[in-house]
Amino acid sequence: MQIRPYLAADEAAIIDLWQACGLTRPWNDPKKDIARKLTEQPELFLVGDVDGRPMASAMVGFDGHRGWVYYLAVHPDHQRRAHGRRLMAHAEQLLIERGCPKINLMVRTGNSKVIDFYRSLGYAQDEAVSLGKRLIPDL
Ligand SMILES: CC(C)(COP(=O)(O)OP(=O)(O)OC[C@H]1O[C@@H](n2cnc3c(N)ncnc32)[C@H](O)[C@@H]1OP(=O)(O)O)[C@@H](O)C(=O)NCCC(=O)NCCS
Repeated sequence: MQIRPYLAADEAAIIDLWQACGLTRPWNDPKKDIARKLTEQPELFLVGDVDGRPMASAMVGFDGHRGWVYYLAVHPDHQRRAHGRRLMAHAEQLLIERGCPKINLMVRTGNSKVIDFYRSLGYAQDEAVSLGKRLIPDL
């Protein structure tokens, strides 16, 4: 897998990937999510190519205090080949280079396989409750 920044030509393939991985939700418009990311640290929106085709993604950001990772995805046909591990290692390295001291990330309740994945990478559950407030409705 070759890891590189997202390019405009990737949009349809990345949305297909997120759908194949079950990451899209009715209240999140993936096109708007991509467009917003391209206005902030676009170089941290990572794509993994397998045989020249986008098969993995990670939307990474550093807010000045913590690093965040969204839309981590490896296409189901390519899972369990260490692509997810490599993508996260790459994301961690980019954040370390920016002086970011810690990564936070959210996993939807019940997604126990992904929790096992993150635990195998050294992530642990924080004693914190995740709260959210929608500021701009997408739909
Ligand atoms: C989470 C995800 C990115 C992992 O990608 P991957 O390339 O399959 O993961 P890796 O091959 O790098 O796995 C590394 C280790 O994580 C653990 N792991 C990965 N998938 C696992 C699973 N389904 N169940 C249990 N452990 C798992 C294993 O310890 C694995 O090492 P091993 O294969 O040597 O046993 C992938 O499953 C995915 O895209 N899932 C759907 C989208 C999603 O839910 N993303 C997270 C949003 S928060």
